[in-house]
Amino acid sequence: LDNGVALRPPMGWMSWQRFRCIIDCNLYPDDCISDSLFRQMADRMSEDGYLEAGYEYLIIDDCWLTMERDEEGKLQPDPIRFPYGMKNLSDYVHSKCLKFGMYEDIGVKTCAGYPGIKGHLEIDANTFAEWDIDFIKIDGCYAQPDEFKQDFTDFGIYLNQTGRPIMYLCNWPLYLELQGNLADYPYLAKVCNLWRNYADIQDSYSSMTTIADWFAQNQDRFITSAGPGHWNDPDMLLIGNFGLSIEQAKSQMALWAVMAAPLLMSVDFRTIDQQSKDILLNKNVIAIDQDELGLQGRFLKEKDSIDIWIRQVTPVVNGELTYAVAFQSRREDGFPLALRVTLRELGLNNSFGYFVTDLFEPTNFKRVVNITEEILVRVKPSGVVFLKLVPQTN
Ligand code: GLA
Repeated sequence: LDNGVALRPPMGWMSWQRFRCIIDCNLYPDDCISDSLFRQMADRMSEDGYLEAGYEYLIIDDCWLTMERDEEGKLQPDPIRFPYGMKNLSDYVHSKCLKFGMYEDIGVKTCAGYPGIKGHLEIDANTFAEWDIDFIKIDGCYAQPDEFKQDFTDFGIYLNQTGRPIMYLCNWPLYLELQGNLADYPYLAKVCNLWRNYADIQDSYSSMTTIADWFAQNQDRFITSAGPGHWNDPDMLLIGNFGLSIEQAKSQMALWAVMAAPLLMSVDFRTIDQQSKDILLNKNVIAIDQDELGLQGRFLKEKDSIDIWIRQVTPVVNGELTYAVAFQSRREDGFPLALRVTLRELGLNNSFGYFVTDLFEPTNFKRVVNITEEILVRVKPSGVVFLKLVPQTN
């Protein structure tokens, strides 16, 4: 969508994966979907290095609404959990130099059962603009798939008419793809900034790899629809929660960077461990995700139980592109696998070779490798080695 935003995949934090639909603030005062939770996350995000690393969108997912619209037909937040209203919270988030995002649903209800925007597209777009939001996720529960095209397109037009630049995430293709129907990605790229292609991520390595595998198997249908202003979205980062080991967390970060995915964390910043935080804040890996060319990478091949993913990035040297290559071990047992591979075998053919760095282990490699040289890559179980290869000149 050509609305001036999402020129790079957005980076931020979204509440769903970690905080779901916890609405009982008596039982769960620290974790319930509430004004207090989002203010605390805004504070941590702006003060603990996330904003500095590029994470700027703070997004409220489902379960912020009350069941009734007001007398004018406007959406309203739950009055107990959001006692100061959404404009006040939005102002607070903006005062922390962050951007503010919200969630709704194109159908008659959200996935958790709160009022949807069906039949209220224009008034709701205006309400969101009055709250000064910068990002909206529109889901596809309780909706007719044959009405998606009209309604998602119209809502985008109403957003545009507000005059406020609002990033537009469409949870639209997933509801088609999960039923075995193919989405029209070139059209999605025209009307949405981001779109969720496939199933919801859950907090496990198997969920993460199921999504990566689906992206690998279907990549030719949508890779070319990614670029500045419009991106595929494999869903939130699990890093720092309960389901991934540290090696698996690196794997998600690397694969998401190759896929030019939005980097939407969903973690409790108050309790995150240092290693997970370091992975989320890894500047080298973030730079691959955010590369200015905006070319989504791809699954290349599997060799000796290691999945090889590759992405073209800057710098471009004498017309030769730089490559980011992720070697991800699909073995969860055993010990570090040793893979022998030549750069030529990966499709790299600059005759002066490439300067190779390891994005997670800066002391590895750091040397020029010729395209016919066999390099040894040691990958830990379910982990990743993520290399950057910059073309050399004579
Ligand atoms: C759907 C979406 C999730 C989340 C929930 C909220 O499942 O795909 O990302 O927004 O709804 O109910």
